[in-house]
Amino acid sequence: MKPYNIRLLPGDGIGPEIIAQARRVLDAVGERFGRTFFAEESLIGGAAIDATGDPLPQATIDACVGADAVLLGAVGGPKWDDDPTIRPERGLLGIRKAMGLFANVRPAKLFPQLRGACYLREDIVERGIDVMVVRELTGGIYFGEPRGESVEHGERVGYNTMVYRESEIRRIAEVAFTAARTRSGRVCSVDKANVLDVSRVWRDVVTETAKHYPDVELSHMYVDNAAMQLVRDPSQFDVIVTGNLFGDILSDEASVITGSIGMLPSASLGAEGPGLYEPIHGSAPDIAGQDMANPLATILSVAMMLRLTLGLTEEADAIEQAVSEVLTAGYRTGDIMEEGKTLVGCTEMGTHVVNAFLRAGA
Ligand code: IPM
Ligand code: MG
Repeated sequence: MKPYNIRLLPGDGIGPEIIAQARRVLDAVGERFGRTFFAEESLIGGAAIDATGDPLPQATIDACVGADAVLLGAVGGPKWDDDPTIRPERGLLGIRKAMGLFANVRPAKLFPQLRGACYLREDIVERGIDVMVVRELTGGIYFGEPRGESVEHGERVGYNTMVYRESEIRRIAEVAFTAARTRSGRVCSVDKANVLDVSRVWRDVVTETAKHYPDVELSHMYVDNAAMQLVRDPSQFDVIVTGNLFGDILSDEASVITGSIGMLPSASLGAEGPGLYEPIHGSAPDIAGQDMANPLATILSVAMMLRLTLGLTEEADAIEQAVSEVLTAGYRTGDIMEEGKTLVGCTEMGTHVVNAFLRAGA
């Protein structure tokens, strides 16, 4: 059987700890299903700045482009906040751009075992939360030109440009419509077309693209209203498709209301080539190195990677099943801890998942 070449990018903060647990799960998949994964690490973010002065060394780009799939921990931290010219985040933005990963898929789902951790009122939670945010990732205001800082009439001015081309909008809309077909068949496109010209083009192109998906129901919502509706009644959403900046904000909101941001995986995908998988949460520098982080979002990112990029459905299902069992057994890291449950650290949580996974295959 062909070995899979997985590039690991641990990054900063809790990144190395959670990636270590993901690696153990990959090994367990190898053991149970007879697969071989070559998982080697590359530098990104602050760790790469410290080692090479560059948040995204060329060697990292080459290794990622040449891999079957990439798994990232997290980047950033206060240590690198002082120099605005070489920020760790540039490593993440750069690798997305270099790999052509224009579609960021972030499912925000409530785990039934974690209902008590959900931030919303019980009658709202009862209706269920299962939203998938499809965020455009290589365009919009994150990359638009002109951008920069200058001095005009004696005062400092900063500016960025939100720009979307028809082709960029169409391809992300296609990802959203295609995803909706495997779910409840509804897409809500989020924009600010009442104010922004770029949003009017966005809305037109999404509406045109929808004609090729007559079986999918399309609605439009302004971003301010969407932010409100997500907390008021998330059950009204199935797939949300939106631009880079709005998607950054709404995907954090969608995931945190579930109470389990430490649980949620994400995929960044291009038209072809390897996908990049990462937990939704950040580098959590406050708990880094203390074996306190929740590795489940990263472990579930491994499952998403096996499913979407490597086509290993059975293996992916088995990982998700193992995570579910561990939650049912009552093991919790600090972020999802509730009374009456068993508090565990990052490594121990990894051990429980690996044990459940191997036990099911025995
Ligand atoms: C995310 C993060 C990144 C982003 C940062 C770290 C550059 O917030 O993946 O959502 O804004 O895209
Ligand atoms: Mg973000």
